[in-house]
Amino acid sequence: MWTKRQLQGTMKESLSDYLLVVASNRQPYSHLVKSGRLTCVRQSGGLVTALDPVMQAVEGVWVAEGTSPHDRQVVDANGKVLLPPENPSYALRRIFLTKEERDGYYYGYSNEGLWPMAHVVYTRPVFRVEDWKQYQRVNERFAQTILDEVGDRKAFVWIQDYHLILVGQYLKAANRPNLITSFFWHIPWPNPEVFHICPQKKEILEALICYDLLGFQIRYHCDNFLAAVDANLESRIDRERNSVVFQNHETLVRPFPISVDFEGLSDISQSDLIRNRAEELREELGLKGKKVLIGVDRLDYTKGIPDKFRAVDRFLEKYPEYKEKIVLFQLGEISRIHISKYKELNDELNALAEEINWKHSQGSWLPIVFTRSYTPYQDILALYTLADACLVGSLHDGMNLVAKEFISSRTDADGVLILSYFTGAARELTDAILVNPYDTESFAEAIHQALAMPREEREKRMKKMREIVAQNNIFRWAGKVLSQLLKFDFQEA
Ligand code: G6P
Repeated sequence: MWTKRQLQGTMKESLSDYLLVVASNRQPYSHLVKSGRLTCVRQSGGLVTALDPVMQAVEGVWVAEGTSPHDRQVVDANGKVLLPPENPSYALRRIFLTKEERDGYYYGYSNEGLWPMAHVVYTRPVFRVEDWKQYQRVNERFAQTILDEVGDRKAFVWIQDYHLILVGQYLKAANRPNLITSFFWHIPWPNPEVFHICPQKKEILEALICYDLLGFQIRYHCDNFLAAVDANLESRIDRERNSVVFQNHETLVRPFPISVDFEGLSDISQSDLIRNRAEELREELGLKGKKVLIGVDRLDYTKGIPDKFRAVDRFLEKYPEYKEKIVLFQLGEISRIHISKYKELNDELNALAEEINWKHSQGSWLPIVFTRSYTPYQDILALYTLADACLVGSLHDGMNLVAKEFISSRTDADGVLILSYFTGAARELTDAILVNPYDTESFAEAIHQALAMPREEREKRMKKMREIVAQNNIFRWAGKVLSQLLKFDFQEA
């Protein structure tokens, strides 16, 4: 089994002569002033959850966008700050964007165009040519920053996610023989018919096959990508090697299902700190004596949060004996709120929670507690450990790491995972109760099944899922990608 120490050992030995540079849009930590004190806050989202422990193990440099005014104040003359604050082990190099760059590249092209296109949840993608220009510009800035960081050293460059597709192409154009490049696509890759709508589809495919190694969450996404290449580019697809050869360059295409730091999360979840916090939260939030369903999502229309609310509503209609006995505690960190679809979702959720709570309320009891305030990571772990069930209702999700975090935190081998079929995680975690979130009736039944499940069966299922996540942990994911990268030869200068 891959462990943090093993990854550290292997990589220190193999990477000692090389630099590792990771780049993503989202930074792992942001510096903010809270109650008059400068604090360093870990950021939400699956990408950060997965990569922060990896970077702590392998060191290197992480290039990402700085977003707060304080992010700018704490960096040194090279734009760098050491992280994580309590035990610095890698450097974050921040890039600061103008408002126009951020609007076009992040809100526009990445999140109004690529994000809805990749997820196919009936939110219309919008592709504006001005956004594409900002997207190109910002990707070029990332590439320049990486080149500056690397200098003449030999480096492995590992680009993350749909915001930064073009970086590899700009790196290649710089014609540096000292770089081996890889890209990991964290979200789903749609089928060729859906991808066909993208006005820049050729540019995107050509840019992606500039990388030496291309990773997706599951084989199905690799196949969709290869089908898109087949339909749009004059290249050769080598089915045996799972690679694309274009203008004498080969790109390997591989599935690497992402994960979490199972051991680290298990350890901290059984600490006194988290146990005591769970007891405090039970008291503070009025959860004593109640069956607790927990939902932890960014406020995003792909996460199926309204579908969860509707399932709770239907569950209470069908099983009124559970009134006053259950609570859905739904955390929803505000995300991408300048995009109208996200604002609309926020309004929809407020109205829906209010309506369902009004319909079923009795005395001071409300079935849905919906909170958008920032929740410290330790509190999220404490909530996982006290929950009777965790609800993941994504309408489509590359992997979904909330499911894997929940399992990692349950050292008591208790708690039930209700998981959407439409997540990458559902392919591994077949001992969850798998649901179709569009089907309210069966989602409601799944809640009933979870709450009525005998302890013995809960334990049996949770133990099996814990074994799977323990094996397929984040260090294995990183180890597999990095070992593959180490097999490439640097070109002769
Ligand atoms: C998803 C994406 C990540 C992104 C995260 C948070 O998990 O795959 O790349 O960082 O969402 O989204 P945000 O737009 O808030 O950074």
